[in-house]
Amino acid sequence: MDVSVSLNGLSSAVKDYISKPRQLLIDGQWVDAQSGKTFAVYDPSTGQQIAKVAEADAADVNLAVAAARRAFDDGPWAKMKPAERARLLWKLSDLMEAHADELAELESLDNGKPVTVAKAADVPFSIETFRYMAGWPTKLGGKTLNISAPGDYHSYILREPVGVVGQIIPWNFPLLMAAWKLGPALATGCTVVLKPAEQTPLTALRLGELIMEAGFPPGVVNILPGFGETAGAAIANHPDVDKVAFTGSTEVGKMIARAATGNLKKVSLELGGKSPVIVFPDADMERVIPGAASAIFFNQGQTCCAGSRLFVHEKIFDKVIEGVADVASKLKVGPGLDPSTEIGPLVSDEQFSRVRGFLDSGRAEGATVATGGGTVGNAGYFVQPTVLINVKPEMKVVREEIFGPVLVAERYNDDDLDRIAKEANDTMYGLAGSVWTRDLATAHKMARRIKAGTVWINCHNVFDVSQPFGGYKQSGWGRELGEEVLNNYMETKAVTAAL
Ligand code: NAI
Ligand code: MG
Repeated sequence: MDVSVSLNGLSSAVKDYISKPRQLLIDGQWVDAQSGKTFAVYDPSTGQQIAKVAEADAADVNLAVAAARRAFDDGPWAKMKPAERARLLWKLSDLMEAHADELAELESLDNGKPVTVAKAADVPFSIETFRYMAGWPTKLGGKTLNISAPGDYHSYILREPVGVVGQIIPWNFPLLMAAWKLGPALATGCTVVLKPAEQTPLTALRLGELIMEAGFPPGVVNILPGFGETAGAAIANHPDVDKVAFTGSTEVGKMIARAATGNLKKVSLELGGKSPVIVFPDADMERVIPGAASAIFFNQGQTCCAGSRLFVHEKIFDKVIEGVADVASKLKVGPGLDPSTEIGPLVSDEQFSRVRGFLDSGRAEGATVATGGGTVGNAGYFVQPTVLINVKPEMKVVREEIFGPVLVAERYNDDDLDRIAKEANDTMYGLAGSVWTRDLATAHKMARRIKAGTVWINCHNVFDVSQPFGGYKQSGWGRELGEEVLNNYMETKAVTAAL
């Protein structure tokens, strides 16, 4: 495997961008951290340092929150007409489109994902998120009420932005998560302090430059790369942050919820998953095999809604496993910037160790490796696409989110939909699931029975900005995207006037 492709082929825009230490965006200015500290950013395909970024901590969070508060209360943003907010969002999406290749390359370099995927999925979806959200400011009205209280009243509902919002995002879709978070916050008129993940701060910072170029007033968007325990915790704890939106692990989601009790800031959480892919004996094998493979292997398995538990009826189990294992063994593993790569490295040394730990634990608990099971090369964080069979429901690999290219496959021997659903729902998570069958009634009956925020039928990982996305159970609170996400960012005010 040739990992040298990694830095040689970079465009001059990206080379130039990573050649300078990147700073924090606070109140419309690019500034160093108060402490003067920086941290290193690594290329996951080599483990080599590629950039240096200012490291925000509590002091910087205080400055950013104060700037966001001023922008919310007194700045031009507070007086801006909805149509002007819409125009700024649209302008931003145009600027992103003009820099789409550069953003895709930077994302691939920083996260490790195939640049072809960043170009086809991450970047266009991020742009579409801002375009869709640009449509909302002009449509966010309240309503009038016909109240029955004795007397004569005019009663109506106002919907107002919640205020200063803290947003903490992960490293698996760095630009896209920034777009999912910023889009609705800006559409509703909030101001933001955004913390990208420490593993992948580069595209959020480049986005910050485009935000300023688009003409958003100072303080509306502040971007603070830094670590979770310091900058992240300072945001979650801050008494002047009105709402926090988080995407990441369930463990940290619970910490955020606890931290939010200080000032009872509003909280939305998009957390982990262990989503079932349920295959019925009548399913179309031509769809199931590539579909189940891509459900888990897309983005190296680092996807919160990855189809990581495959449930197949025993009648077709061997055939499906053979097919998925065959696809897995042929996927081309390599550095993200190589255009022929289908599976890139995991994002970090930490995730590399974590996923290898799961592979060891699966073997130790008695699972059998149908394909994969090892690492690739001797530099970078590459893991083979893996399928584990002979797994039992109580095994760690079945219960916990692996967040790597590792599928666990279980067979069921039942025709009772309630019992199949019960097995599929036997997880603390409830983010997503997919059902594969040619029978319409089975498909829709299962869709009702799966306890998850998203159910796909004969497909998996199909997203659109109009669809609400989020979790049941310990997969989170609230929904991202669609009209529904706007509720996370608005307060409802009932006004009643005696006439
Ligand atoms: P994490 O939940 O620790 O990190 C996500 C974000 O939260 C990052 O920006 C991080 O800096 C921040 N953070 C961490 N600790 C914090 C704290 N105490 N207060 C405030 N913010 C904090 O996830 P990590 O450690 O990167 O990955 C561990 C596991 O989490 C993965 O193996 C995967 O299972 C899961 N995960 C799930 C994601 C999802 O999309 N649902 C995304 C990333 C990770
Ligand atoms: Mg963590």
